[in-house]
Amino acid sequence: METLHIALIGFGTVGKGIYESIEEQREQLESLLGKTISIDAILIKDGDINREVDNNVLLTTNVEDLLSLPQLDVVFEAIIGVEPARTYLAKFIEKGCHIVSANKELLAHKGKELRSLATKYKAGLRYEAAVAASIPILSTLREGLKSNQIQEISGILNGTSNFILSELQQKELSFEQALNEAKEKGYAEADPTNDIEGWDAFYKILILSDLVYGEQPEWDRIIRKGIDEVTSADIKIAESIGFRIKHIASLTPSADGPVISVEPVAVTSSHPFFHVAGVNNALQVTGNLAGSITLNGPGAGAYPTASAMIEDLLSLYRNSSESVFYSPSKENGAEVADWLLLG
Ligand code: NDP
Ligand code: HSE
Repeated sequence: METLHIALIGFGTVGKGIYESIEEQREQLESLLGKTISIDAILIKDGDINREVDNNVLLTTNVEDLLSLPQLDVVFEAIIGVEPARTYLAKFIEKGCHIVSANKELLAHKGKELRSLATKYKAGLRYEAAVAASIPILSTLREGLKSNQIQEISGILNGTSNFILSELQQKELSFEQALNEAKEKGYAEADPTNDIEGWDAFYKILILSDLVYGEQPEWDRIIRKGIDEVTSADIKIAESIGFRIKHIASLTPSADGPVISVEPVAVTSSHPFFHVAGVNNALQVTGNLAGSITLNGPGAGAYPTASAMIEDLLSLYRNSSESVFYSPSKENGAEVADWLLLG
Protein backbone atom coordinates (compact mmCIF):
# COMPACT_ATOMS: atom_id res chain seq x y z
CA MET A 1 0.00 0.00 0.00
CA GLU A 2 1.08 3.56 -0.68
CA THR A 3 2.07 5.62 2.38
CA LEU A 4 0.48 8.91 3.36
CA HIS A 5 3.05 11.16 5.05
CA ILE A 6 1.71 13.45 7.75
CA ALA A 7 3.14 16.16 10.01
CA LEU A 8 1.54 17.93 12.95
CA ILE A 9 2.08 21.58 13.88
CA GLY A 10 1.22 21.85 17.59
CA PHE A 11 0.99 19.10 20.16
CA GLY A 12 -1.33 20.56 22.80
CA THR A 13 -4.90 19.45 23.51
CA VAL A 14 -5.77 19.24 19.80
CA GLY A 15 -2.45 18.02 18.40
CA LYS A 16 -2.27 15.21 20.95
CA GLY A 17 -5.91 14.36 20.27
CA ILE A 18 -5.16 13.96 16.55
CA TYR A 19 -2.07 11.84 17.21
CA GLU A 20 -3.87 9.52 19.66
CA SER A 21 -6.98 9.24 17.48
CA ILE A 22 -4.93 8.28 14.43
CA GLU A 23 -3.09 5.63 16.46
CA GLU A 24 -6.36 4.37 17.98
CA GLN A 25 -8.23 4.20 14.64
CA ARG A 26 -5.25 3.38 12.44
CA GLU A 27 -6.70 0.20 10.93
CA GLN A 28 -10.02 1.87 10.12
CA LEU A 29 -8.40 4.98 8.66
CA GLU A 30 -5.90 3.06 6.55
CA SER A 31 -8.71 0.91 5.23
CA LEU A 32 -10.79 3.99 4.32
CA LEU A 33 -7.81 5.78 2.77
CA GLY A 34 -6.35 2.73 1.04
CA LYS A 35 -2.96 3.97 2.31
CA THR A 36 -0.79 3.37 5.34
CA ILE A 37 -0.36 6.42 7.52
CA SER A 38 3.00 7.66 8.69
CA ILE A 39 3.18 10.54 11.18
CA ASP A 40 6.68 11.68 10.31
CA ALA A 41 7.17 14.87 12.33
CA ILE A 42 5.66 17.13 14.97
CA LEU A 43 6.48 20.82 15.34
CA ILE A 44 6.30 22.16 18.89
CA LYS A 45 7.43 25.34 20.61
CA ASP A 46 9.09 24.01 23.75
CA GLY A 47 11.71 21.37 22.99
CA ASP A 48 12.27 20.57 26.68
CA ILE A 49 8.87 18.97 27.38
CA ASN A 50 8.83 15.18 27.38
CA ARG A 51 6.19 13.92 24.84
CA GLU A 52 4.74 10.47 24.51
CA VAL A 53 5.27 9.80 20.84
CA ASP A 54 6.75 6.94 18.88
CA ASN A 55 10.56 7.04 18.55
CA ASN A 56 10.27 7.24 14.75
CA VAL A 57 8.49 10.60 14.92
CA LEU A 58 10.76 13.62 14.52
CA LEU A 59 9.95 16.14 17.27
CA THR A 60 11.31 19.56 16.41
CA THR A 61 11.03 23.25 17.19
CA ASN A 62 12.30 24.20 13.72
CA VAL A 63 9.73 24.43 10.92
CA GLU A 64 12.52 23.99 8.34
CA ASP A 65 12.85 20.35 9.51
CA LEU A 66 9.27 19.75 8.32
CA LEU A 67 9.71 21.74 5.13
CA SER A 68 12.75 19.64 4.21
CA LEU A 69 11.10 16.25 4.70
CA PRO A 70 11.54 14.19 1.50
CA GLN A 71 7.78 13.60 1.25
CA LEU A 72 4.94 15.35 3.06
CA ASP A 73 1.33 15.00 1.98
CA VAL A 74 -0.78 16.51 4.78
CA VAL A 75 -0.06 19.02 7.54
CA PHE A 76 -2.40 19.24 10.54
CA GLU A 77 -2.13 22.68 12.14
CA ALA A 78 -3.29 23.30 15.72
CA ILE A 79 -1.41 26.25 17.17
CA ILE A 80 -2.79 29.56 18.37
CA GLY A 81 -3.22 32.87 16.58
CA VAL A 82 -2.47 34.26 13.13
CA GLU A 83 1.33 34.19 13.22
CA PRO A 84 3.45 32.18 12.76
CA ALA A 85 0.66 29.84 11.58
CA ARG A 86 -0.08 31.88 8.42
CA THR A 87 3.57 32.01 7.35
CA TYR A 88 4.06 28.30 8.01
CA LEU A 89 0.91 27.21 6.19
CA ALA A 90 1.70 29.40 3.18
CA LYS A 91 5.08 27.62 2.87
CA PHE A 92 3.50 24.16 3.04
CA ILE A 93 0.79 25.11 0.53
CA GLU A 94 3.47 26.37 -1.86
CA LYS A 95 5.05 22.91 -1.63
CA GLY A 96 1.67 21.40 -2.61
CA CYS A 97 0.87 19.92 0.83
CA HIS A 98 -2.75 19.60 1.90
CA ILE A 99 -3.65 21.49 5.08
CA VAL A 100 -6.08 20.60 7.85
CA SER A 101 -6.38 23.42 10.40
CA ALA A 102 -8.33 24.00 13.63
CA ASN A 103 -7.16 27.59 13.97
CA LYS A 104 -10.26 29.76 13.76
CA GLU A 105 -8.43 33.00 14.53
CA LEU A 106 -6.14 32.40 11.56
CA LEU A 107 -9.01 31.44 9.25
CA ALA A 108 -11.20 34.40 10.19
CA HIS A 109 -8.29 36.77 9.49
CA LYS A 110 -6.52 35.09 6.58
CA GLY A 111 -8.91 32.43 5.24
CA LYS A 112 -9.40 34.21 1.92
CA GLU A 113 -5.67 34.60 1.33
CA LEU A 114 -4.95 30.95 2.23
CA ARG A 115 -7.82 29.66 0.09
CA SER A 116 -6.58 31.50 -2.97
CA LEU A 117 -3.02 30.30 -2.34
CA ALA A 118 -4.31 26.74 -1.98
CA THR A 119 -6.20 27.05 -5.28
CA LYS A 120 -3.06 28.39 -6.99
CA TYR A 121 -0.92 25.48 -5.76
CA LYS A 122 -3.68 22.83 -6.09
CA ALA A 123 -3.50 22.04 -2.38
CA GLY A 124 -6.48 21.07 -0.24
CA LEU A 125 -7.36 23.38 2.66
CA ARG A 126 -9.85 22.04 5.22
CA TYR A 127 -10.92 23.51 8.59
CA GLU A 128 -14.08 21.78 9.81
CA ALA A 129 -12.76 21.75 13.40
CA ALA A 130 -12.40 25.53 13.44
CA VAL A 131 -16.18 25.97 13.82
CA ALA A 132 -18.01 23.99 16.53
CA ALA A 133 -15.41 21.17 16.74
CA SER A 134 -17.28 17.86 16.31
CA ILE A 135 -20.33 19.31 14.52
CA PRO A 136 -19.90 18.96 10.74
CA ILE A 137 -21.36 22.39 10.02
CA LEU A 138 -19.03 23.35 7.16
CA SER A 139 -19.62 20.12 5.27
CA THR A 140 -23.36 20.31 6.00
CA LEU A 141 -23.46 23.77 4.43
CA ARG A 142 -21.15 22.82 1.56
CA GLU A 143 -22.56 19.44 0.70
CA GLY A 144 -26.02 19.26 2.25
CA LEU A 145 -27.56 22.69 1.71
CA LYS A 146 -25.96 23.93 -1.51
CA SER A 147 -29.25 24.47 -3.33
CA ASN A 148 -30.66 26.56 -0.48
CA GLN A 149 -30.49 30.27 0.09
CA ILE A 150 -29.34 30.49 3.69
CA GLN A 151 -31.63 32.91 5.49
CA GLU A 152 -30.12 32.66 8.94
CA ILE A 153 -27.51 30.84 10.99
CA SER A 154 -27.49 31.16 14.73
CA GLY A 155 -25.35 29.20 17.09
CA ILE A 156 -23.79 28.53 20.43
CA LEU A 157 -20.23 28.48 19.12
CA ASN A 158 -18.02 28.63 22.18
CA GLY A 159 -17.85 25.48 24.31
CA THR A 160 -16.09 27.21 27.21
CA SER A 161 -18.79 29.88 27.50
CA ASN A 162 -21.61 27.36 27.36
CA PHE A 163 -19.81 25.16 29.88
CA ILE A 164 -19.36 28.09 32.30
CA LEU A 165 -22.97 29.26 31.89
CA SER A 166 -24.24 25.69 32.48
CA GLU A 167 -22.04 25.21 35.56
CA LEU A 168 -23.13 28.53 37.06
CA GLN A 169 -26.76 27.69 36.36
CA GLN A 170 -26.55 24.22 37.92
CA LYS A 171 -24.00 24.58 40.71
CA GLU A 172 -22.90 27.02 43.39
CA LEU A 173 -19.61 27.86 41.70
CA SER A 174 -17.77 31.10 41.05
CA PHE A 175 -17.01 32.21 37.47
CA GLU A 176 -13.29 31.59 38.15
CA GLN A 177 -13.95 28.02 39.39
CA ALA A 178 -16.03 27.19 36.31
CA LEU A 179 -13.39 28.73 34.01
CA ASN A 180 -10.61 26.72 35.71
CA GLU A 181 -12.61 23.55 35.15
CA ALA A 182 -12.98 24.45 31.45
CA LYS A 183 -9.19 24.95 31.28
CA GLU A 184 -8.48 21.61 32.96
CA LYS A 185 -10.76 19.83 30.50
CA GLY A 186 -8.92 21.39 27.52
CA TYR A 187 -11.94 23.44 26.35
CA ALA A 188 -10.61 26.94 27.05
CA GLU A 189 -7.81 28.54 25.08
CA ALA A 190 -4.44 28.92 26.89
CA ASP A 191 -5.41 32.59 27.16
CA PRO A 192 -9.18 32.32 27.74
CA THR A 193 -9.82 35.99 26.93
CA ASN A 194 -10.91 34.98 23.44
CA ASP A 195 -13.48 32.59 24.91
CA ILE A 196 -15.04 34.77 27.56
CA GLU A 197 -14.97 38.06 25.64
CA GLY A 198 -16.73 36.51 22.65
CA TRP A 199 -13.79 36.69 20.21
CA ASP A 200 -13.72 32.94 19.63
CA ALA A 201 -17.41 32.82 18.62
CA PHE A 202 -16.83 36.00 16.57
CA TYR A 203 -14.07 34.30 14.54
CA LYS A 204 -16.25 31.24 14.00
CA ILE A 205 -19.28 33.16 12.74
CA LEU A 206 -16.99 35.14 10.41
CA ILE A 207 -15.76 31.85 8.91
CA LEU A 208 -19.42 30.92 8.31
CA SER A 209 -20.08 34.32 6.76
CA ASP A 210 -17.16 33.80 4.35
CA LEU A 211 -18.44 30.36 3.44
CA VAL A 212 -22.13 31.16 3.01
CA TYR A 213 -22.06 34.73 1.67
CA GLY A 214 -18.50 34.93 0.33
CA GLU A 215 -17.75 37.99 2.47
CA GLN A 216 -17.49 39.31 6.02
CA PRO A 217 -19.10 42.43 7.45
CA GLU A 218 -16.80 45.25 8.52
CA TRP A 219 -15.51 44.02 11.88
CA ASP A 220 -16.17 47.33 13.63
CA ARG A 221 -19.86 47.13 12.67
CA ILE A 222 -20.32 43.83 14.53
CA ILE A 223 -21.82 43.67 18.00
CA ARG A 224 -19.49 41.42 20.04
CA LYS A 225 -20.05 40.77 23.70
CA GLY A 226 -18.82 37.89 25.83
CA ILE A 227 -20.03 36.14 28.94
CA ASP A 228 -17.60 38.12 31.09
CA GLU A 229 -20.41 40.63 31.63
CA VAL A 230 -22.87 37.95 32.84
CA THR A 231 -23.06 37.44 36.62
CA SER A 232 -24.23 34.42 38.63
CA ALA A 233 -27.11 36.62 39.80
CA ASP A 234 -28.18 37.28 36.16
CA ILE A 235 -28.17 33.54 35.52
CA LYS A 236 -30.22 32.72 38.63
CA ILE A 237 -32.76 35.50 37.97
CA ALA A 238 -33.20 34.33 34.36
CA GLU A 239 -33.67 30.75 35.62
CA SER A 240 -36.28 31.83 38.18
CA ILE A 241 -38.51 33.27 35.44
CA GLY A 242 -38.04 30.33 33.03
CA PHE A 243 -35.20 31.72 30.90
CA ARG A 244 -31.60 30.59 30.37
CA ILE A 245 -28.73 32.78 29.31
CA LYS A 246 -26.91 31.48 26.26
CA HIS A 247 -24.03 32.98 24.30
CA ILE A 248 -25.34 33.18 20.73
CA ALA A 249 -23.74 34.24 17.47
CA SER A 250 -26.05 35.01 14.58
CA LEU A 251 -25.59 35.66 10.89
CA THR A 252 -28.21 36.96 8.45
CA PRO A 253 -28.02 38.39 4.94
CA SER A 254 -29.12 41.95 4.16
CA ALA A 255 -29.08 44.29 1.20
CA ASP A 256 -25.88 45.80 2.67
CA GLY A 257 -24.14 42.46 3.15
CA PRO A 258 -24.07 39.95 6.01
CA VAL A 259 -25.09 41.09 9.48
CA ILE A 260 -23.53 39.48 12.55
CA SER A 261 -24.04 39.72 16.29
CA VAL A 262 -22.31 37.82 19.09
CA GLU A 263 -23.77 38.26 22.58
CA PRO A 264 -25.40 36.68 25.63
CA VAL A 265 -29.13 36.24 25.11
CA ALA A 266 -31.90 34.99 27.45
CA VAL A 267 -33.90 32.20 25.78
CA THR A 268 -37.15 30.51 26.83
CA SER A 269 -37.66 26.74 27.23
CA SER A 270 -39.15 26.51 23.72
CA HIS A 271 -35.93 27.83 22.15
CA PRO A 272 -33.81 25.12 20.44
CA PHE A 273 -30.74 26.16 22.47
CA PHE A 274 -32.40 26.12 25.92
CA HIS A 275 -31.27 22.56 26.68
CA VAL A 276 -27.82 22.78 25.09
CA ALA A 277 -25.63 22.12 28.12
CA GLY A 278 -21.98 21.82 29.12
CA VAL A 279 -19.35 22.01 26.41
CA ASN A 280 -21.87 21.39 23.65
CA ASN A 281 -22.33 23.76 20.76
CA ALA A 282 -25.46 23.99 18.62
CA LEU A 283 -26.35 25.58 15.32
CA GLN A 284 -29.68 26.35 13.75
CA VAL A 285 -29.49 26.86 10.00
CA THR A 286 -32.49 28.13 8.08
CA GLY A 287 -32.55 27.47 4.35
CA ASN A 288 -35.31 28.67 2.04
CA LEU A 289 -36.00 25.09 0.88
CA ALA A 290 -34.94 22.94 3.82
CA GLY A 291 -36.48 25.05 6.59
CA SER A 292 -34.71 25.06 9.97
CA ILE A 293 -32.15 22.38 10.81
CA THR A 294 -30.57 22.13 14.26
CA LEU A 295 -27.23 20.45 14.96
CA ASN A 296 -25.94 19.87 18.48
CA GLY A 297 -22.73 18.25 19.78
CA PRO A 298 -19.43 18.67 21.61
CA GLY A 299 -17.91 22.02 20.68
CA ALA A 300 -14.42 21.63 22.17
CA GLY A 301 -12.04 19.03 23.59
CA ALA A 302 -9.34 16.76 22.22
CA TYR A 303 -11.36 13.98 20.59
CA PRO A 304 -14.37 15.93 19.24
CA THR A 305 -11.85 18.24 17.55
CA ALA A 306 -9.75 15.33 16.29
CA SER A 307 -12.93 13.80 14.88
CA ALA A 308 -13.54 16.83 12.65
CA MET A 309 -9.88 17.02 11.57
CA ILE A 310 -9.70 13.35 10.69
CA GLU A 311 -12.93 13.66 8.71
CA ASP A 312 -11.19 16.50 6.86
CA LEU A 313 -8.29 14.17 6.11
CA LEU A 314 -10.67 11.56 4.71
CA SER A 315 -12.48 14.18 2.64
CA LEU A 316 -9.19 15.16 0.99
CA TYR A 317 -8.81 11.65 -0.36
CA ARG A 318 -12.46 10.67 -0.76
CA ASN A 319 -13.43 8.91 -3.91
CA SER A 320 -17.10 9.70 -4.40
CA SER A 321 -17.89 6.12 -5.40
CA GLU A 322 -16.49 4.55 -2.24
CA SER A 323 -18.63 3.16 0.57
CA VAL A 324 -18.69 5.80 3.29
CA PHE A 325 -18.37 3.69 6.41
CA TYR A 326 -15.73 1.23 7.47
CA SER A 327 -16.89 -2.34 8.04
CA PRO A 328 -14.70 -4.12 10.57
CA SER A 329 -14.06 -7.73 9.70
CA LYS A 330 -16.13 -10.29 11.59
CA GLU A 331 -12.94 -11.90 12.98
CA ASN A 332 -12.31 -8.72 14.99
CA GLY A 333 -15.55 -9.32 16.83
CA ALA A 334 -16.14 -5.57 16.74
CA GLU A 335 -19.33 -5.68 14.75
CA VAL A 336 -21.83 -6.53 17.52
CA ALA A 337 -24.57 -3.94 17.28
CA ASP A 338 -26.35 -2.61 20.36
CA TRP A 339 -29.67 -2.68 18.49
CA LEU A 340 -31.62 -5.24 16.47
CA LEU A 341 -33.54 -4.65 13.28
CA LEU A 342 -36.99 -6.18 13.80
CA GLY A 343 -39.52 -7.23 11.22
P1 NDP B 1 -2.80 24.22 23.33
O1 NDP B 1 -2.42 25.47 24.02
O2 NDP B 1 -3.21 23.06 24.14
O3 NDP B 1 -1.61 23.73 22.39
C1 NDP B 1 -0.96 24.60 21.51
C2 NDP B 1 0.19 23.86 20.89
O4 NDP B 1 0.78 24.71 19.91
C3 NDP B 1 1.31 23.47 21.86
O5 NDP B 1 1.73 22.16 21.60
C4 NDP B 1 2.42 24.47 21.56
O6 NDP B 1 3.71 23.94 21.72
C5 NDP B 1 2.19 24.67 20.08
N1 NDP B 1 2.72 25.95 19.60
C6 NDP B 1 2.40 27.18 19.99
N2 NDP B 1 3.09 28.09 19.28
C7 NDP B 1 3.88 27.39 18.44
C8 NDP B 1 4.84 27.75 17.46
N3 NDP B 1 5.15 29.01 17.22
N4 NDP B 1 5.46 26.76 16.78
C9 NDP B 1 5.17 25.47 17.03
N5 NDP B 1 4.27 25.06 17.94
C10 NDP B 1 3.65 26.02 18.64
O7 NDP B 1 -3.94 24.63 22.30
P2 NDP B 1 -5.10 23.71 21.71
O8 NDP B 1 -4.55 22.43 21.28
O9 NDP B 1 -6.25 23.75 22.65
O10 NDP B 1 -5.58 24.57 20.44
C11 NDP B 1 -4.82 24.59 19.25
C12 NDP B 1 -5.62 25.30 18.16
O11 NDP B 1 -6.84 24.58 17.93
C13 NDP B 1 -6.04 26.74 18.51
O12 NDP B 1 -6.01 27.51 17.35
C14 NDP B 1 -7.48 26.55 19.01
O13 NDP B 1 -8.26 27.70 18.86
C15 NDP B 1 -7.96 25.44 18.10
N6 NDP B 1 -9.07 24.63 18.63
C16 NDP B 1 -9.03 24.16 19.91
C17 NDP B 1 -10.03 23.33 20.38
C18 NDP B 1 -10.02 22.78 21.76
O14 NDP B 1 -11.02 22.16 22.17
N7 NDP B 1 -8.97 22.96 22.54
C19 NDP B 1 -11.18 22.97 19.52
C20 NDP B 1 -11.11 23.50 18.17
C21 NDP B 1 -10.10 24.31 17.76
P3 NDP B 1 4.30 23.51 23.17
O15 NDP B 1 3.55 22.24 23.49
O16 NDP B 1 5.74 23.30 22.92
O17 NDP B 1 3.97 24.65 24.09
N1 HSE C 1 -11.92 27.39 23.20
C1 HSE C 1 -12.83 26.93 22.21
C2 HSE C 1 -14.18 26.73 22.82
C3 HSE C 1 -12.32 25.63 21.64
O1 HSE C 1 -14.29 26.72 24.05
O2 HSE C 1 -15.17 26.62 22.08
C4 HSE C 1 -13.15 25.11 20.49
O3 HSE C 1 -13.08 25.94 19.39
